[in-house]
Amino acid sequence: MSELSVEHLLGIKYLNPNDIDVIFKTADHFKEVINRPIKKVPSLRDITIANLFFENSTRTKLSFELAEKRLSADVINFSAGQSSVKKGETLIDTVNNILAMKVDIIVMRHGNVGAGVFLSKHVDAKIINAGDGTHEHPTQALLDSYSIREKLGTVKGKKIVIIGDVLHSRVALSNIFALQLQGAQVKVCGPTTLIPKHIASLGVTVETNLKKALEWCDVANVLRVQHERMDIKYFPSTREYTQLYGINQEILDNLGKKIVIMHPGPINRGVEITSDVADSNDSIILNQVENGVAVRMAVIYLLAQQIKR
Ligand code: CP
Repeated sequence: MSELSVEHLLGIKYLNPNDIDVIFKTADHFKEVINRPIKKVPSLRDITIANLFFENSTRTKLSFELAEKRLSADVINFSAGQSSVKKGETLIDTVNNILAMKVDIIVMRHGNVGAGVFLSKHVDAKIINAGDGTHEHPTQALLDSYSIREKLGTVKGKKIVIIGDVLHSRVALSNIFALQLQGAQVKVCGPTTLIPKHIASLGVTVETNLKKALEWCDVANVLRVQHERMDIKYFPSTREYTQLYGINQEILDNLGKKIVIMHPGPINRGVEITSDVADSNDSIILNQVENGVAVRMAVIYLLAQQIKR
C-alpha cells in the first residue's frame, strides 16, 4: 500500500508499520530532491498550509516551513505571542478564522495534550501535530527513526535507549511507539523521578544506571531536561544530574564499542551532553535536522494526496 491509513498525523500511536514504510520511501525521494541544485517540486502548488505555533520552536517550525516551500505550497505562519489569542480568542475561533482564508492543512504545536485531536474533530482541514504538550511529537519520532535507518541500515532489531527527562517528553513517547512499530527494542534511562511510573506497560525496559544502559544499546537518544515543564524539583541540582546522567566522551570511550548519539534539540550543552560528544563523528544530531525536512515533506505530501481538488 502506498497510501497512509490515517487522515491526519495526530500521533504515532495512530499509525501502522506500513504507514511508516510509506512515509520513509516518500522521504527517500524528497531527500534526493532537496539535494538537487533546484530543491523544489511543484507538487502542492494548489495547497495552502497554516503553521500555528502556540509554543516556542526553532527546528520544527523552520523545518515545516521549508518542507512546505520545497513542495511549492502557499504558507502562512502564526505565532500565539503576536496574535489575538492574547486578547482572549479561543483555539476554535482562531482556527476557523484561518480556515476562512481557505487553508487546506494545519500544522500545530500547542501546550495542551490532545490539542491536535480536538482540532481534527472540529475543523475541516488536515491536521499535523507538531508537538502537543508532554504527549506526542510524531514528526520528530519519524525523523529520528529515519536517521537511525540511514545510519544503521535498519531500525528492526536495534537497541535504542532514551535518556533523561522522559516524564516531560513528547519526543520520548512518540519515539517509543515508532521504534516498536519497526521492531526495535527500547529502554528508558534516567532518575526514577523523571521516568513515568507505568512506562513498562508500553513494553519498554527501565534502567537507572547510565553506564549499563549505554553498554546495552546501539543508539542513545539524549533528551533535554525540560525545566519549563517542572513545577517541583525532580533532582537536587543540575550539577548532580549531569554527574549521573550527562553523556561525556570519557563514558563513551570506556564502553569499548561505538554507539550512535542522537538529540532532538534544543541541546543544553554541558548538562545532558557535552559539546565534544554532541559535535563528534558518532553524533547524528545535524543529520536528524536535515532529515526532518524530507520526512515532513513526505508527511505533508501524503496527506495532501487525500484532499479532493
Ligand atoms: N526538536 C524540537 O521539537 O525542537 P524545537 O522545539 O526547536 O522545534
